[in-house]
Amino acid sequence: MSTVRFTTEHPYSVEIDSGALDKLSALIGDASRVAVIYPDPLAEVALEVARLAGSATVSVLSVGVPEGEAAKTPEILASCWSALAAAGFTRSDLIIGVGGGATTDLAGFVAASWLRGVSFISVPTTVLAMVDASVGGKTGIDLPEGKNLVGAFHEPNAVIADLNLLATLPEREVRSGLAEVIKAGFVRDDRIRELIATSPSSSLDVTSARHAELIRRAVQFKADVVSSDLREATSVGDRIGRELLNYGHTLGHAIEAWEHYRMRHGEAVALGMIFAAQLSRRLLGLSDEAVATHRELIGVLGLPTSYQRAPFGELRGLMGRDKKTRGRALRFVGLRNLSDPAMIVAPSERVLEECYAELGRD
Ligand SMILES: NC(=O)c1ccc[n+]([C@@H]2O[C@H](COP(=O)([O-])OP(=O)(O)OC[C@H]3O[C@@H](n4cnc5c(N)ncnc54)[C@H](O)[C@@H]3O)[C@@H](O)[C@H]2O)c1
Repeated sequence: MSTVRFTTEHPYSVEIDSGALDKLSALIGDASRVAVIYPDPLAEVALEVARLAGSATVSVLSVGVPEGEAAKTPEILASCWSALAAAGFTRSDLIIGVGGGATTDLAGFVAASWLRGVSFISVPTTVLAMVDASVGGKTGIDLPEGKNLVGAFHEPNAVIADLNLLATLPEREVRSGLAEVIKAGFVRDDRIRELIATSPSSSLDVTSARHAELIRRAVQFKADVVSSDLREATSVGDRIGRELLNYGHTLGHAIEAWEHYRMRHGEAVALGMIFAAQLSRRLLGLSDEAVATHRELIGVLGLPTSYQRAPFGELRGLMGRDKKTRGRALRFVGLRNLSDPAMIVAPSERVLEECYAELGRD
C-alpha cells in the first residue's frame, strides 16, 4: 500500500493500491448518511462502494449520473442537490464520488456547495482522475459558455485509488491519463521518464508494478506542488507554484476546445508539451536532445506527436481566452532542461507560429 499525503489547508491522504477500497469503511467517520455519486456504466463499482460504506448506523443513497462530461452540468448538479434534500442530508453526512475526473469534479462540487460544504471522499476510476482530477482540491462543472467555469476549492477527506478499478478502463483512456504522468516526468521527476523509456508496454499495463509506481510518483508530484500553492498564487520569477501543473496545457486547452473535446485531454496535452518543448528550445535554450526525448516518450505511449488540423490563428485566439491566461500576456510553462522549469511570458507571435508549424512535422 502506498500512501501520499497532501499537507494543504485540510491535510488528507491518497491511498494507492490494488484493493485500496478495503480502507473505505474505516473512513466513514460520524456520517449517518452517505451519498455515492457515480456514472451509470460504473453501477457495479458503486454497489461495492455502497456495501463497504453502509452499516447498521449508516444509510447509503446511490445517485447515478450520466457518464463523462455530460454529468458536469448545472442541471445534473441541481438533480444531485434535490436527491440530497429528499434524503435529508445534514452537515455531518458524507459524499463519495466514484468515477473518472468528470464525476469526481461534479461530486466534489456537490460536496463543496451542499450546506456550504460537507465531507467528501473521492474514489477515482481512471488514470487521469487518480493522478490529477481527484487530487488537488479543485471541483466544478461546465457551462455552455466554457469548461470548468463554475467551481470551488474543496479538499477531499481522503482519496482511494484502487488500482483494480482500472482493469475495465479502455486503453485510450489509459494512454490519455499517462500524458499527465509523463508531464510530471518532464518538469520534475527523472525516474518517471526512465520507467517509461525502459518499458513502455508495462507502463501501459494497469496491472503492472511499474504502472503502480508511475501513478504513485505522479500523485506525489501533484502533492508536492499543491501542498505549497493550493490556490495558484502567481508564479514569481523562478518560483513556479501550482502553475507548473500547466505544462503543455496552454496550447493543449486550445486544441481541446478547437476539437470540441472530441480529443482526449491527455492527447491534447501531449501535443501541448511538444509545443512547449519547442518553444523552450528557442527561448530557454532547451537542447535538441530534450525535445527529441519529448517526442520519443510521448510517441511510445501511443499519444499523438504531430498536429496541424487547426489554423494557428484560431488556436492563438483560444489561447488568449483561456481562463488561466492572466491579463493579456500568454504564459507557458517551459523548460531550461528536463526537470528544470521556467516561465515563458508573452513570447513573440513569430516564434509561436514557427513552433506551431514545427508541430506539424513528424
Ligand atoms: N479537478 C481537477 O483538478 C481536474 C484536473 C484534470 C482534469 N479534470 C477534469 O477531469 C475530467 C476528465 O477526467 P477523465 O479523463 O477521467 O474523464 P471521464 O470522467 O469523462 O471518464 C472517461 C470515460 O471513462 C469511463 N470510465 C471511468 N472509469 C472507468 C472504468 N474504471 N472502466 C471503464 N470506463 C470507465 C467514464 O464513464 C467516461 O466515459 C474533465 O472534466 C476535466 O475537466 C479536473
